[in-house]
Amino acid sequence: MIIRRYRSGDLRDLYRICLRTGKSGDDATALYRDPDLLGHIYAAPYGLFEPALAFVVEDELGVGGYCLGALDTRAFEQRLEQRWWPSLRRRYPEPDARYRDVWTRDERAAYMIHHPWRSDDDILADYPSHLHIDLLPRLQAQGTGRQLIDIELTAMRDRGSAGVHLQVTAGNHRALGFYHHLGFIGLRSGDGYTLGLKLLVNLSSSPWLPGYSEPEIHG
Ligand SMILES: CC(C)(COP(=O)(O)OP(=O)(O)OC[C@H]1O[C@@H](n2cnc3c(N)ncnc32)[C@H](O)[C@@H]1OP(=O)(O)O)[C@@H](O)C(=O)NCCC(=O)NCCS
Repeated sequence: MIIRRYRSGDLRDLYRICLRTGKSGDDATALYRDPDLLGHIYAAPYGLFEPALAFVVEDELGVGGYCLGALDTRAFEQRLEQRWWPSLRRRYPEPDARYRDVWTRDERAAYMIHHPWRSDDDILADYPSHLHIDLLPRLQAQGTGRQLIDIELTAMRDRGSAGVHLQVTAGNHRALGFYHHLGFIGLRSGDGYTLGLKLLVNLSSSPWLPGYSEPEIHG
């Protein structure tokens, strides 16, 4: 197993892994008619527009996980507004709000393409970066998630980020446990949770703590 930087040839893998982990960490394949919808929102734009913060895990079966990030969330949102969402909005019409209660998963995702998530200013003040991490089951629970997120957090910190936030669905107990174990704190709760980690302090894998070993990165 190696962790390496994202390459343009990995784009389909980002889509595949995003779908296979898109149901609170489990396989969402059966939930979507269009298998690319989740990846359009949560995976592909990071590889395309912020490749310096995109890392993948590869083993003998191929790419099986990623950690994707945006250093400056607001700037990233604006980049997508100019260069990513317009063509997708033409492809996926906005669903009729009168039928919101019975929207399919595809329609809910299409709505997000027209009304993308916008992070709150007060969260961005302390946690300007954000990330997504997803591993296929064969790579889970072996320390790979920690190695991968360490590489991401180090890259963000090296680029001067003061903190990172992320979203977790309420039902994703495994991921919640993982993030709390790594030192993330709860910032908001609602349908899901927003968690945050300051990068200049309180990093469980900080070099000044005992047991830290520099994460290895290939490629
Ligand atoms: C969540 C996920 C990224 C975690 O990665 P992982 O490789 O399974 O986790 P690791 O084996 O690296 O665990 C790292 C540490 O967290 C701990 N940990 C992991 N899950 C935990 C949990 N639910 N509760 C408490 N601690 C947990 C491990 O014991 C380990 O501790 P240690 O390093 O001190 O020994 C991975 O399981 C995954 O991709 N799941 C499916 C997709 C998903 O849910 N993504 C997150 C969406 S928000």
